[in-house]
Amino acid sequence: MAAPAVYGNWKMNLDHVEAIHLIQQLGVLLRRAPVEHVEVGVAPPFVDLRSVGSVIEADRLGLVLCAQHVNEHESGAHTGEVSLAMLERLGVHAVLVGHSERRRLYGMDDALVARTLARVAGAGLRAIVCVGEDLAVREAGQETAYVADQLRAALRGLSEAARANVTVAYEPLWAIGTGVVAEPAQVAAQNRSIRSTLAELGLEAPVLYGGSVSAENAAELAREGALDGFLVGGASLRAEAFHAVCRALDDWYASTR
Ligand code: PGA
Repeated sequence: MAAPAVYGNWKMNLDHVEAIHLIQQLGVLLRRAPVEHVEVGVAPPFVDLRSVGSVIEADRLGLVLCAQHVNEHESGAHTGEVSLAMLERLGVHAVLVGHSERRRLYGMDDALVARTLARVAGAGLRAIVCVGEDLAVREAGQETAYVADQLRAALRGLSEAARANVTVAYEPLWAIGTGVVAEPAQVAAQNRSIRSTLAELGLEAPVLYGGSVSAENAAELAREGALDGFLVGGASLRAEAFHAVCRALDDWYASTR
């Protein structure tokens, strides 16, 4: 099973000059206070990948370069899209698949999530598949069934080889970018349900949480939620805040060994 991990999702923020600045700041903090047990990755916008990857490599930062999305096809007439081969060539090792913003704003349905996931994980890259309920689903008490269905739709039929490359990120929509973080007990309950759905599908994958994660709530969430890490949005745009989340998970993980 993959190591615990923290991935920063920069979303549509920072041009390549700003991105270089942020990754350099993060590099300074990581050298000063390293993270030992936790894999740390960043997912910049496509246009920043080359610059950020160059800094990671030149400064030997040991960070995983991630992409926020990829097209399901190999190449061809898909104006505005980016292929997996292009990302691999830039040193990308992990890709977010089916982030709720892609699903909600750009029409990424369950079937497209499944095809994209199969391409990413099948090529040996880590596929971080995002699932999570909106507020209406939670208020109707349907959140575990809803997320289980999302997982079944995304993972059913995945090849044996691809299964080892899947990470699940549970991101309740009502907690993303809102400052409203899920209660540790809510995360723990959803996590238990996710793990049993994964077992039913023959998978054992790391489970991350995302949604208003900060240095202040990371340790408690990791402990109470029995998580393998975090997908961090807003806080990943500030080097100190992101580094603090990574350190919090690293400390907690070190204490459990
Ligand atoms: P947030 O975003 O940390 O800003 O809530 C999380 C995400 O969308 O991955």
